[in-house]
Amino acid sequence: MTSVAGKRIVLGVSGGIAAYKAVEICRRLMDSGAHVIPVLTKGATRFVGRATFDALASEPVQMSLFDEDDPIPHTTLGQTADCVLVAPATARVIGAYAAGISSDLLTATLIATRAPVVICPAMHTEMWEHPAVADNIATLVKRGVSIVGPESGRLAGGDEGAGRLSSPADIVAAVDRVLDSTGRRLDMAGLSVVVTAGGTREPIDPVRYIGNRSSGKQGYAFAEEAAARGAKVTIITTVDRPGPLGTTVVSGITVVRVNTAEEMAAATAEAAKEADVVIMAAAVADFRPVDPAGVKIKKRDGVPAIQLEPTPDILAGLGASKPEGQILVGFAAETCEVADNAAAKLSGKGADYIVANDVAAENVGFAYDTNEVTVLASDGRVRPVGMRSKRQVAQAVLDLVMGDRDASEENQ
Ligand code: PMT
Repeated sequence: MTSVAGKRIVLGVSGGIAAYKAVEICRRLMDSGAHVIPVLTKGATRFVGRATFDALASEPVQMSLFDEDDPIPHTTLGQTADCVLVAPATARVIGAYAAGISSDLLTATLIATRAPVVICPAMHTEMWEHPAVADNIATLVKRGVSIVGPESGRLAGGDEGAGRLSSPADIVAAVDRVLDSTGRRLDMAGLSVVVTAGGTREPIDPVRYIGNRSSGKQGYAFAEEAAARGAKVTIITTVDRPGPLGTTVVSGITVVRVNTAEEMAAATAEAAKEADVVIMAAAVADFRPVDPAGVKIKKRDGVPAIQLEPTPDILAGLGASKPEGQILVGFAAETCEVADNAAAKLSGKGADYIVANDVAAENVGFAYDTNEVTVLASDGRVRPVGMRSKRQVAQAVLDLVMGDRDASEENQ
């Protein structure tokens, strides 16, 4: 199973006893490398706690149409999803979706999305066989919605009959098939992409280092977005993939682990030789201790005088020896005079784009799940990308880069 890897899947859970099985569906999707965003109805929380999904999924549970951070969560969810899966889907949610009624975040997302939708009904036999439900299902099928199940078997209260939610394995397999057949946004197929992620660690002695607060989230988001768009990706990283998946490797991504700027420079130079796109999201130390101690420095010997020297500037090195046609995307993490500093890095390092990060701002940059950036292009264009998840930032930056690439190919 490969198609769900790296895909953004909105997992809608509505209020039925089978909601507990959605936990297993969430886990299986995560295990397969999907980016899962749970959207629960109020009814769902009567059967299963949101804390369970918060702990397992890629993003916290969303329930409200009136989110504090995003004024239009349903459109954001709908527009950015690769697939919306509803499991279990109650008669109410199926009816609302068929009738175009958006009374809560889940039904609004269903109506706002243009992504493929998979509905997994679960209810008592009498409800499943009711003509209203049958008509609604027929309407959805006519519109191209995939319906999975229900199965026959034991139902809540000991009854037997049609209406039982399909197994989590069958549901995840169905989502995989749907994504496989849609092949959305494969605009990076055949391209080789190199991404750097995390903060480098420059040793002071065998136990101490100079580091920074980079979590690798932004770099991994780029790697997974590029892989989901069909690219062959190498991520050169100082950290494991953040989140519940840990070291699990998303299909299409090769992970190269490094620690220091020197190691990152060597691995990146090697991988970049054949790359079509290089994205330097890592926070590389600018200085390192000249002569790290071979044994742990003892406190009793007093405060050590640590002499520093510059590290190799990886981005500038790549910029200076960029092969024809390669696209080089750098970052600028700044705390003041962001626009000027980012513009200086764009020209000084020979990048095609600089993604400027005002890392002094709330919920932006290091370690947060969200980011807000401004992309500067070497031809002078400036494209702000407002506050959103790091995956959505990656999506917006790659949309710009790929749009420019397509336009320049058309002009040749
Ligand atoms: O990892 P997260 O917690 O998700 O946080 C994301 C992030 C804040 C780390 C990321 O969005 C970001 O801004 N990355 C760049 C951090 C950085 O080192 O910025 P800089 O302005 O110091 O460097 C400018 C560019 O030169 C960067 O592309 C950097 O990778 C590169 N560089 C810097 C120094 C060096 N010796 N070699 C380099 O290649």
